[in-house]
Amino acid sequence: MNVAVIGGGGREHALVRKFAESRKVDRIFAIPGNAGMSDVAEVIHGVTENDFEAIAGVCLENEVEWVVVGPEAPLTEGIVDCLEDEYGIRVFGPRKKEAQMESSKAFTKELMEKYDIPTAKFARFGDHDAARAYIESHGAPIVLKKDGLAAGKGVVVAMDMDQALAGLDELMDEDGSPIVIEEFLEGEEFSLMVLVNGEYTHSFEMIAQDHKRAFDGDTGPNTGGMGAYAPVSHIDEAHRTEAIEKIIKPVTKGMVEEGLDYFGILYLGAIVTAEGVKVIEFNARFGDPEAQILLSMMEDDLGEVLEKVHRKEPFELSFKPGCMVGVMLASRGYPKSYQKEKYVEFDTIRENCYISGLRQDMEGLYMTSGGRVLLVTGYGETVEQAVKTAYENVGQVKFEEGDLFFRKDIAHRAL
Ligand code: AMP
Ligand code: GLY
Repeated sequence: MNVAVIGGGGREHALVRKFAESRKVDRIFAIPGNAGMSDVAEVIHGVTENDFEAIAGVCLENEVEWVVVGPEAPLTEGIVDCLEDEYGIRVFGPRKKEAQMESSKAFTKELMEKYDIPTAKFARFGDHDAARAYIESHGAPIVLKKDGLAAGKGVVVAMDMDQALAGLDELMDEDGSPIVIEEFLEGEEFSLMVLVNGEYTHSFEMIAQDHKRAFDGDTGPNTGGMGAYAPVSHIDEAHRTEAIEKIIKPVTKGMVEEGLDYFGILYLGAIVTAEGVKVIEFNARFGDPEAQILLSMMEDDLGEVLEKVHRKEPFELSFKPGCMVGVMLASRGYPKSYQKEKYVEFDTIRENCYISGLRQDMEGLYMTSGGRVLLVTGYGETVEQAVKTAYENVGQVKFEEGDLFFRKDIAHRAL
């Protein structure tokens, strides 16, 4: 079969690489793809991820049987509704209504409240004064979130009152959109990927851990993710099971009861608190950079997995033994404003890299085109070895000092 992967980041790079190993898959189209994919996919330049008509055209012309959507923006804009309803093209990904699990914090919080799913207490505000009064009465630490897509950047975890009030001004005054204010939860986070088809679910047997803060020691602003690793052996398997029983099963059952028909990946961002595992967030797609790590560790055929989820067949996924660590190289300034068009060379470790924000110049040299630039991975029998290999590989990447930065403590909680 022919497949098309929508998106042009590191997660999509991992998806096309994984499909390239599939016995089921003949041709792979990457729309719009990126500069790292041409060895494994047919890269469709010039068609953006939000141009659904043009995407449909490519898929119909090339007899694409499955479209897999990587990023949240086209899902939120209704790519699935458009491709399926108007063109009869099968898509792995939730429709606009179901994608609200990610695009609307208020929608998801209300669903969790109704079905008794453990999560932080919250309130929603469209009014600055009311939000301020709430913050003042609840005190810090407290968490403020934009009620819409923000690529991981619309969250302020305020540890004191000054940060909380500054965060309120920042988030509310940008565009006047509503915000959600949450109770601060303390504990260790993990990411669980779940394949969902209505009431059918298959939770990944292996969990991953992301590093959301920009700087070492989990400091600095929130980002889309500065590095990840899997498995997370120091988080007990019992917590994954608890997440499935107390969160995944009731939330998927709740969605069905509400008349939602979710099909695709549901990403659970969970936190292990003293009161048990709670929900930090849901996403309507694979995590980035968790996908790069988990798909590298996964031994199964992704084309077959897709078909099994579509048919609601039970199965088990197998993962390599050992550990995989990924370190994100980002443009200096990210997640705030940053410069582009900085040269980066990584020829000696290409196989270990997933491109997020790089393009090629006229001579084929790589230059930066985004905030997150390149995920450099390392594999090892133990997490210590994987960390060592990952940073040795980072050392092979050539760039002008100061153009890029990366965290030096990925997987620190596991060491
Ligand atoms: P989100 O975009 O909702 O995943 O938030 C980004 C990051 O902010 C999370 O991965 C957490 O590290 C942190 N965060 C979000 N909500 C909370 C919360 N209620 N308590 C503590 N930390 C949080
Ligand atoms: N790495 C977190 C996310 O994809 O949202």
